[in-house]
Amino acid sequence: MSKIFITRKIDEAVIDELKKSFDVEVWDSEDEAVPRDILLEKVKESQALLTMLSDQIDKEVLSNAPLLKVVANMAVGYDNIDVQAAEKAGIIVTNTPDVLTDTTADLAFSLILATARRIPEAAEYIKKGDWTSWSPYLLAGHDVHHKTLGIIGMGKIGQAVAKRAAGFDMDILYHTRSRKTEAEEQFGAQYKSLNDLLEKADFVLVLAPLTDETRGMIGAEQFKIMKESAIFINVGRGPVVDEKALIEALENGEIAGAGLDVFEKEPISKDHPLVAMKNVVAVPHIGSASTETRFIMMKLAADNIKAVLNGEKPLTKVSV
Ligand code: DGY
Repeated sequence: MSKIFITRKIDEAVIDELKKSFDVEVWDSEDEAVPRDILLEKVKESQALLTMLSDQIDKEVLSNAPLLKVVANMAVGYDNIDVQAAEKAGIIVTNTPDVLTDTTADLAFSLILATARRIPEAAEYIKKGDWTSWSPYLLAGHDVHHKTLGIIGMGKIGQAVAKRAAGFDMDILYHTRSRKTEAEEQFGAQYKSLNDLLEKADFVLVLAPLTDETRGMIGAEQFKIMKESAIFINVGRGPVVDEKALIEALENGEIAGAGLDVFEKEPISKDHPLVAMKNVVAVPHIGSASTETRFIMMKLAADNIKAVLNGEKPLTKVSV
């Protein structure tokens, strides 16, 4: 019987379904990622891994995996997996595209709103008992409607954010590898060079995946181009941004605020300078975290494993 190792506690119904045909072992923790030594031990005897974005599936893991046929990542991003090394070893890698598009776009847009309108700060204000009277500029933030949104990385999630932004009467600029004429026609999105976008946008939203080309693409030079009133949002991957430069840009007033779902090093510590800043809304990589979507992602990852172990084509294979 083929063995599947699942690196985190997932829905029982998904596990039970796999157990009907396979030997399934689960690292049964909601809070703690599987320790590296255990992952290295389990992969030796597994035909399939169901992994999270916090698991590093690198050359060391892949070369310790004589039986491994598939790595099913429960995320659309797969920068945690050495896909080239997997392909070389004949191991299929799958991800979970499409099913999380709207949920992640909702989070991106809510970070725009929460940062601009200072929602977490305002909620905290009441909880601390600071609200003594209404006043004209009490917790006044910035408008989102009729402003300019610049989207860096116009894949499916970017286009879903553009759809939401169009409903807020925003002007939409985008920068991405290839032009998206559909978004241009449907939402009036305009393709711009990166510098042009940075210069004009009131909200700069990064959704780009982490690749060799995007690593560090937003740094000191790029923050200097942005408006002093700009709000920077990252729902892509932390290392796309030079975090030190982001901290400096916020400290020096080069930009007005930031809404962050992803960080250079995750989990970010509560003592990190970004977390302490009043004009930063930081959330713990919850882009796709609705119970409905997470269940569908688990199911898709499991279905990919089932297909490969049954000798069928996986539903959502990652290609190099
Ligand atoms: C992904 O799936 O890559 C997202 O970052 C999850 O929120």
